[in-house]
Amino acid sequence: MLARVLNPHPIALVPMTTSSLRVLAVSSGKGGVGKTNLVANLAYGLSKRGQNVLVVDADLGLNNIDILLGLAPRFHIGHVLSGEKNIEDIIVRGPANLRILPAGDGLQELTQLETEKKMLLMDELDRVSQKYDFLIFDTGAGISQNVTYFCSAAHEIILVATTEPTSLTDVYALIKVLNQKHAQKYFRVVINSVDSEREAKSIFNNLAAVTDRFLTDVSLEYLGFIQYDPNVSRAVRQQKAFMELYPYSKVSQCVDLLADKIVQEKRPTAGEGDRPFFWKSALQVR
Ligand SMILES: Nc1ncnc2c1ncn2[C@@H]1O[C@H](COP(=O)(O)OP(=O)(O)O)[C@@H](O)[C@H]1O
Ligand SMILES: [Mg+2]
Repeated sequence: MLARVLNPHPIALVPMTTSSLRVLAVSSGKGGVGKTNLVANLAYGLSKRGQNVLVVDADLGLNNIDILLGLAPRFHIGHVLSGEKNIEDIIVRGPANLRILPAGDGLQELTQLETEKKMLLMDELDRVSQKYDFLIFDTGAGISQNVTYFCSAAHEIILVATTEPTSLTDVYALIKVLNQKHAQKYFRVVINSVDSEREAKSIFNNLAAVTDRFLTDVSLEYLGFIQYDPNVSRAVRQQKAFMELYPYSKVSQCVDLLADKIVQEKRPTAGEGDRPFFWKSALQVR
């Protein structure tokens, strides 16, 4: 039976403890603003700090993270859904021992999956999640259901914006839809491709002023900045994390600061507004 194939070690469907797991979603509204680079390199930085990190490629159909890190996974979630593989079999190892769950084409049908398959997949995902300190979703661009699923399922939403006006309007559109349709109120913001932290803070303040005015129950927090650095595209061309290739570059120092900040924060503990069945909500099993 499918259940057997998907999960050879069946476990009771009990709420997982979130005491050691943080689920972050990185999103932006606009594409090309540096989400995948941030996810790959933040995951690298967290792994280097001794954290067990699983990056979930939630940019459905594009699978950028694999290419960015020079990985060529043979299997993806589609193989789990068809019963050919367990989740453990499809997770690939990246640099600094971080793990990547390739989406492949499998997740494209997330919204159309039968309930039974959603339950089995959720069971599998919940089970493997317990081994990790961090799960990081690299979402796609836009404000489609596939993006809002993963943002709503995460404990923390990190938004990436740049100095471009279109990036700011698109990130605002995402905040608005997540707030008004998915009851999200708290967002953290990273400003990418800036010349200085001063510039990043000024961009952030403009964004916060607009949300304060029009989305009164939204709270934005400045998480950090990433400098513009030609080493990013150099590393992209070499299909390696810039943190690995250029650890002392400006951009790596910025991501190091972000990783330090995130790792030093208090972890969510059960009963503190946590969502133990986070995968259930991601897959909308009700
Ligand atoms: N801090 C930066 N400095 C220089 N170039 C950057 C920076 N961040 C991103 N880029 C460029 O933007 C491109 C798109 O980044 P990517 O992470 O793929 O964006 P997204 O995932 O949001 O679509 C990268 O290939 C890189 O060339
Ligand atoms: Mg991307």
